[in-house]
Amino acid sequence: MSDKNPTDILRKEHDIVLKILDSLEKNLQAKNINQAKKSMILLKKEFNRHSLNKEEQVLFPEIEKFMPRDGGPTGMMIIEHKDLTESIKIFENEKDINNLIEIGNHIINLLREHIDKENNMLFMMADMHLDNNQKKIILKKFKEIDLKKK
Ligand SMILES: [Fe+2]
Repeated sequence: MSDKNPTDILRKEHDIVLKILDSLEKNLQAKNINQAKKSMILLKKEFNRHSLNKEEQVLFPEIEKFMPRDGGPTGMMIIEHKDLTESIKIFENEKDINNLIEIGNHIINLLREHIDKENNMLFMMADMHLDNNQKKIILKKFKEIDLKKK
């Protein structure tokens, strides 16, 4: 057994994302748009590194060796990643406070549910089915992503 499990790393990163979402929610409730924009910059950075790189480029292809993308959970997660990517872009370009609150809340709700599904469904399947060699490959690629993005 490898000493580290890829999904443990991703779960820890989910906790970081959830904390950013809590800050964003508070910023929006206080109508502090400057601070909300700053929270969104942090969120986007973490989302791109974690969801678009580590999950979509590394973990999901290994899961798809035993579960098809189309109609399966990785396909569903990718659809939600696309929604989140587009929503973050809209938020970045939006200036109207009410629109910012609306799109911000959409991101907060969708991403919280999304993380819950990954933690409690997708990662459990991954833990059950990924073999040690796959885990080793995933961990190596995760390290490369972390080195690149610093
Ligand atoms: Fe995730």
